[in-house]
Amino acid sequence: MDKGGSIGIFDSGLGGLTVARQVMKVLPKENIVYFGDNGRVPYGERPREVIIDFSKQISRFLIKKGAKMIIIACNTATAAALDALKEEFDLPIIGVISAGARMAVSATKNGKIGVIGTTYTIKSEAYHKKIKELRHDVEVYGSPCPKFTPLIEGGKQDSRELIEAAQEYLAPLKEKGVDVLVLGCTHYPIVAKHLQKIMGEGVTLVDPAIATAEEAKALLDERGGHNEGNLSPTYLFYTTGDASTFANFAKQIVGLGEVDVTHVPVSELERS
Ligand code: DGL
Repeated sequence: MDKGGSIGIFDSGLGGLTVARQVMKVLPKENIVYFGDNGRVPYGERPREVIIDFSKQISRFLIKKGAKMIIIACNTATAAALDALKEEFDLPIIGVISAGARMAVSATKNGKIGVIGTTYTIKSEAYHKKIKELRHDVEVYGSPCPKFTPLIEGGKQDSRELIEAAQEYLAPLKEKGVDVLVLGCTHYPIVAKHLQKIMGEGVTLVDPAIATAEEAKALLDERGGHNEGNLSPTYLFYTTGDASTFANFAKQIVGLGEVDVTHVPVSELERS
């Protein structure tokens, strides 16, 4: 592994920034190259083949930019494309779902776990399967939240529309009495305060980004891949959407400060 390479991170848009933020905390000496496919968001309503195709294009782009490993900071792309990417590319690739499942299992006390995510993630039952592998005697209840990503991408993360949609999406999970709610889409930590309020303080919200960053660290430990002497890491961001909207969101909503964002046309990505 090229120690001086970057950690490649990608998402359909802004959600993966919640994972990048965590990676920066846990691995402060690593360079990061982030790709947000804001020009084609949301992924959550798309068919599997399309999600795989987009994920391969982005992975090729990240590898060209010097990625030494890739984190799929998107639950939908993890559910649809993790295996296909591992088969195609010769570098370590991790997703967010195994990490989220582990956190959920260790957090539940009553054995009832709720999972929210995109339509694709919930239909795939990817969390359900991973959680059951870890502990077969728990109940897992899923609820798709298709309105969340477009609202968050559109800057409406605190809108009445979002809160009303959340009340509707979370009602069946509250009814089941879950004591853990997995934020099974990387956009959702951005609206965590609203979700916590609706679920009540007794419910633990799980953000898979935390265990994902730890998993990335463990992988670098294992492969001797840490960039030890790097005291001023570089963070480069690419988006198929609007670069200044991306930069504002990263700074104001995710708290990343000033970031260097470059627009990449979808046509360029398709050729990669
Ligand atoms: N942030 C994404 C996820 O974790 C995808 C949202 C979307 O594009 O629909 O699933």
